[in-house]
Amino acid sequence: MNLAVNMLRAGRVVALPTETVYGLAADASNRTAVARVFAVKGRPVDHPLIVHLGQGANLAQWAKHIPDQALRLAEVFWPGPLTMIFERHSSVPDEVTGGLNTVALRVPDHPVFQKLLRLFDGGVAAPSANRFGCVSPTTAVDVWSSLGAAVDLIVDGGPCEIGIESTIVAFEGDEAVILRPGGASSEAIANVLGYRPRDPTPSSVRAPGMLASHYAPVTALELCTDTELAGVALKLVANGMRVGILSLGRTVVPGAAMVWDAGCDIGVFARSLYGMMRRADADALDVLVVALPPDEGLGVAIRDRLYRAAYRPIL
Ligand code: TXA
Ligand code: MG
Repeated sequence: MNLAVNMLRAGRVVALPTETVYGLAADASNRTAVARVFAVKGRPVDHPLIVHLGQGANLAQWAKHIPDQALRLAEVFWPGPLTMIFERHSSVPDEVTGGLNTVALRVPDHPVFQKLLRLFDGGVAAPSANRFGCVSPTTAVDVWSSLGAAVDLIVDGGPCEIGIESTIVAFEGDEAVILRPGGASSEAIANVLGYRPRDPTPSSVRAPGMLASHYAPVTALELCTDTELAGVALKLVANGMRVGILSLGRTVVPGAAMVWDAGCDIGVFARSLYGMMRRADADALDVLVVALPPDEGLGVAIRDRLYRAAYRPIL
């Protein structure tokens, strides 16, 4: 742990576990270190990073005008899978915010990252520790296979509990808006705020980097409903394809190369999704057929990632 802290202080980049996905961390106040994160990921410099803070950190050092609603959400969700966007303090480097006048803040809920933040005593900028556009890592081995020796140190904190990125919330006037669905469900956020946060409108602030195509494995994805699943998969098998299937509940598909279900547990679905996408690539499947989970709770974030992973631009 001291090694990781010392490396961050020295401006190196360190992969760290969070409860959502592994992050590629650098000292948020060190412009050169932050620039290295972009270089290692191959990420466009106008896609801003989330600053991770320890519990009880002084938000006023990072953000101006913290709405009352944000404080209420922080009380319930931090530490946890919620990122909030604020007007930035002038001391936050442009390299972190991609030149925006806002900053994204989150307090991660992982014992290893929390201990590091206590010792480091500063902000840690960290995107997911994958190459730009690829599937986010949920184990230390995933980080190694995605970024390898380009990272100065990988801290292994075991598999991520949630397995899908944080929910990103911005405030527009008096209203909370969900820029990216994630580990904190909109129902749980509504329970705190007393209303269901809106989806962004075309004129809303955006989370740069929320591209239509993202989080994508090499294997083609075919999305369908539960009831369509067996029929769709059997047809592909009959066409001679190596087919994998993922679903919330059990489905029988003779001839499929990989069959996986989440045992009707949406948390297991979220935790396993990126790992199964990686496995589809490792097993050289032609197509992964996925039954979309219900559009509620964690299912909303899972569907969001699946749609992005399945999107192929028309050339
Ligand atoms: O769960 C997570 O959020 C993980 C872990 C490592 O904390 N991090 C993560 O980071 O998913 P990344 O960089 O892969 O995605 C962060 C998203 C990007 O889409 C970025 O555009 C958005 O956050 N973002 C960051 N700063 C922003 C800002 N000031 N305004 C709007 N969106 C912002
Ligand atoms: Mg990412």
